[in-house]
Amino acid sequence: MDSVITIPALGDNLIYLYRYNQGDCLAIDPGECRSVSNILKEQNLSLKMILVTHHHWDHTGGVAELKKTTGCKVVGGDKRRIRDVDQVFEDGETIPVGGADVRVIATPGHTSTSVCYNLVPSAASASGILWTGDTLFVGGCGRLFEGNARTMFESLRRLASLPDDTLVYCGHDYTVENYEFALSIETDNQSVRQRLKDISESGQTVPSTMLQERTTNVFLRAGAPEVKAALGMEQAKDFEVFAELRRRKDSF
Ligand SMILES: [Fe+2]
Repeated sequence: MDSVITIPALGDNLIYLYRYNQGDCLAIDPGECRSVSNILKEQNLSLKMILVTHHHWDHTGGVAELKKTTGCKVVGGDKRRIRDVDQVFEDGETIPVGGADVRVIATPGHTSTSVCYNLVPSAASASGILWTGDTLFVGGCGRLFEGNARTMFESLRRLASLPDDTLVYCGHDYTVENYEFALSIETDNQSVRQRLKDISESGQTVPSTMLQERTTNVFLRAGAPEVKAALGMEQAKDFEVFAELRRRKDSF
């Protein structure tokens, strides 16, 4: 039985439930209530906690109602802009979840208080799991609403340093568009072409792995000589290349 349930919502959002201790679960970024409530009922799950990556409505729209109906606790990186948050965890702090630990990683850039959640490998889960909200997407990254390119690139770099087999679950499914953009830059990246083929066959975009992201996500590859050469930025700093990639993607 998969420990992570993916719930597509609001067009291209992805809400997640993480099952543990038989019938308990966490919800990550419930942008709406109803689809989550339905699955809790269908699968007889008890929602213990909601983890919120950032304050945008499409990641928080279901929080108040779910908190009211289940009595769960709400955790986030921002109490000021996410009203229902009970507890703010700082960068590096861990949240105990059924014998395992979820580590909070501060990842400013998309918003100034964005965080990601990393379930650390344990007896319950051999591979680590990373919920990235709108910081890292499969094949892409979030827009820079409240941070500059340097800040966002540093956040992405921290995520990219996680182990190869870390499972990546992101907040939106923009995967095909992201890979098409990547191929407009790195036209010869065979790993990207293979991923596009795999996805068209399986129809499944999440989870990705950190190894896949490091090889196919052009934003994480801003320091790669091939990417710098493709942009004619051989002498530029990595974050400057990242800034140019983000600028081009904004109008892709
Ligand atoms: Fe967002």
